[in-house]
Amino acid sequence: MEARDTTSTIRDYLRQSAAETEAELSRSLAPSWEMPKTLRESMSYSLGAGGKRIRPSLVLTAAEAIRGSAADRKSALPVACAVEYIHTYSLIHDDLPAMDNDDFRRGKPTNHKVFGEAMAILAGDALLTHAFKLVAHTAKLGVPAETALAISEELAELAGASGMVGGQAADMLGEQGITSIAELEYIHLHKTSDLIVFSVKSGGRIGCASNRQLDLLELFGRNLGLAFQIQDDILDLVGDAEKLGKPTNSDVEQQKVTYPYLIGLDESKALVSRLTDQAKSAIIEAGLAEPSRLLQIADYLVHRDH
Ligand code: IPE
Ligand code: IPE
Ligand code: MG
Ligand code: MG
Ligand code: MG
Repeated sequence: MEARDTTSTIRDYLRQSAAETEAELSRSLAPSWEMPKTLRESMSYSLGAGGKRIRPSLVLTAAEAIRGSAADRKSALPVACAVEYIHTYSLIHDDLPAMDNDDFRRGKPTNHKVFGEAMAILAGDALLTHAFKLVAHTAKLGVPAETALAISEELAELAGASGMVGGQAADMLGEQGITSIAELEYIHLHKTSDLIVFSVKSGGRIGCASNRQLDLLELFGRNLGLAFQIQDDILDLVGDAEKLGKPTNSDVEQQKVTYPYLIGLDESKALVSRLTDQAKSAIIEAGLAEPSRLLQIADYLVHRDH
């Protein structure tokens, strides 16, 4: 009974955080910015299509957790949007025929199905670029310029060639040839964990986390992100396309080697639980003023069905 109560509370909390992010997302692409109408529509289509908004929620939650400050949460809002811009661009490109060739995303036809491949590529490019403007903007909201700079540098590393893009490249190069857990772990850590690491660390930086706390937030994000991608692999096999808002069996069709493929479904589920426990231990060790929401998000994600 108690567990169910906690779940419903964290669900409400995440819904509220998503709403905060979405209100800011809809303001973030200023109407005064001149651009071709179709480009704006293509960007807004994918940004506004929903999604769980887990990464921005982690930015906001981590920012508030460090010293229990609602003001830190507010200052973190542009960075929360920035990571959602990058994540949304990564999804638009991930769905392209040259990559995973998927037709549905967030319950709607994929961007290239509506706007064509050229506009989908360009909308992705524009979302990526705009993310860095949003990070710079935090310096105008009272975040120290050196903090904004550190966040910007870390975003370039964790979203770029040594981060998410590197993971996506390894995913494409490896498709049928992967035989070891080490290779698969590399892909998952970069294509998915890196943006989750960015989310919690950038929030931590805004909340003035110590270096030791930043290291522990990184460990939290790394383990949580790996668990998140293994759960994504599991849901591709046994999930409900309706709930997921994207097709199931995409990995099978693309002949992707996934955790369930390599170690089986049961062992994959056990690994998601173990990684989540390791993630939570890092947060407990970090001595944050308000760790409970981060711990609840971790528990919530183990049981997610979408
Ligand atoms: C999907 O991410 C791609 C992965 C890295 C697993 P999400 O499951 O967070 O997708 P949305 O944002 O809710 O649509
Ligand atoms: C995608 O992994 C990771 C990124 C978009 C960076 P997947 O290809 O497994 O994501 P889904 O299943 O299409 O959401
Ligand atoms: Mg993919
Ligand atoms: Mg995909
Ligand atoms: Mg997947």
